[in-house]
Amino acid sequence: MDKIRIKGHFPAHPLKGKIRISGAKNATLPLMAASLLTNQPLKLTNCPRLADVFTLIELLKHHGATSTFNNNIITLHTPSIIDICAPYELVRKMRASVLVLGPILARVGKAEISLPGGCSIGARPVDLHLMAFEKMGAKIEIKQGYIHATAPDGGLQGAEITFPTVSVGATENVLMAATLAKGITTLNNASFEPEITDLAHCLVKMGAKIHGIGTSTLKITGVHHLSGAIHAIVPDRIETGSYAIAAALTGGEIELTHTSLDLLPTFKEALEATGTTLTPTKNGFIAKAPNGPILPVDITTEPYPGYPTDLQAQFMALMTRSNGVAKITETIFENRFMHIPELVRMNAKITQSGRTATVTGVEKLTAAEVMATDLRASVSMVMVALTAEGDSHLSRIYHLDRGYEDIENKLKGVGGDIERYKEYSSKDKEKVSINGFL
Ligand code: EPZ
Repeated sequence: MDKIRIKGHFPAHPLKGKIRISGAKNATLPLMAASLLTNQPLKLTNCPRLADVFTLIELLKHHGATSTFNNNIITLHTPSIIDICAPYELVRKMRASVLVLGPILARVGKAEISLPGGCSIGARPVDLHLMAFEKMGAKIEIKQGYIHATAPDGGLQGAEITFPTVSVGATENVLMAATLAKGITTLNNASFEPEITDLAHCLVKMGAKIHGIGTSTLKITGVHHLSGAIHAIVPDRIETGSYAIAAALTGGEIELTHTSLDLLPTFKEALEATGTTLTPTKNGFIAKAPNGPILPVDITTEPYPGYPTDLQAQFMALMTRSNGVAKITETIFENRFMHIPELVRMNAKITQSGRTATVTGVEKLTAAEVMATDLRASVSMVMVALTAEGDSHLSRIYHLDRGYEDIENKLKGVGGDIERYKEYSSKDKEKVSINGFL
């Protein structure tokens, strides 16, 4: 089982230098799914090498895609859909696999997709996706854990759809399907995260007709078919924010390149309110830690352009070292505070009441054995460990590998003392005693 050792110091050794930001995981996954909409090749550049990307490649190949992936350029080509079923053993590895539902349903009129199931941060239902497809004329049945979707004979029909709550995945799934539906589809109360804007721009390059890009109302006029395209994936704003916080937490200064502060309007305000300075550069910005103490700042997560839920755990890590008390309210997911007990093991002072955590800054954090609970919580533990005296050991780091490309080298490059190692279970050690080798 892989683990990561982080050598922390108190006071922290400041992280200093440059980090190149990768393409956004949460743009890459829907863009890859969009390749199923056409029988032509779709080429995506600035594609991060992440576990989730390789998992989705496996699923797309199952549906009939061929793929090449070199130097952060991925080309996906599905001349025809050879299997409409997305099986449980593939979907359960990554719930965003449900994003193949819209493209397959739109392209061939029928899809059987395993229900993605929940994850550690919440139940993660897909009822909004299914409600929208039914409004477009699809017949939806749930049988033995699978979504069986069938479009009307003439294909999906354009419809007026209003989402009762904002959903990134539902907006993406229906947006992709609507590009090939008959007539006009209007999406009201749509999510307009930068990753959705990026998807819409790529779909337009493929021949889709979409108006209202970048707003919460999208109007899509269906076309007969889409072609291939070449598209550069938008920078990862969550990776960007994570490393900006790492600079603030360690008293350092990091230039983040191939990204933009424009992707993080509310986050920028919150981080600057802690005393951190964020100075734009020609292709990114410099994050510099406060000269004095880290000031406490309250945040509440909200759909874009509000404070991103995917940067909640990281901001909590920063507040563990503030000179006051900060309140962090999570409104998007019902169980996204699992990092609290792990941070408390490192001497953080955090209490929780419902969806609000109260973080009282402490002078000194201490190294500990900690467990990654979800993708974003895992990186917040790495950052706290950098400022905690001693060696911390992080387990279940497969969470990290899902969303942070090459994190060890990126942190080592700015002075972080971090390394990955294999821990052999007692069973493995037993094997050594029998066979004499591991
Ligand atoms: C996307 O998940 C992201 N994942 C998440 O990032 C991100 O946290 C989330 O959007 C919110 O920004 C990808 O893009 C691959 P939602 P998604 O549908 O689409 C409820 C990460 O760390 N809901 O916007 O699943 C849902 O339960 C991940 O990179 C329904 O009730 O999120 C949640 O409470 C974690 N019914 C809220 O809406 C539905 O049909 C927002 O979910 C769909 C969602």
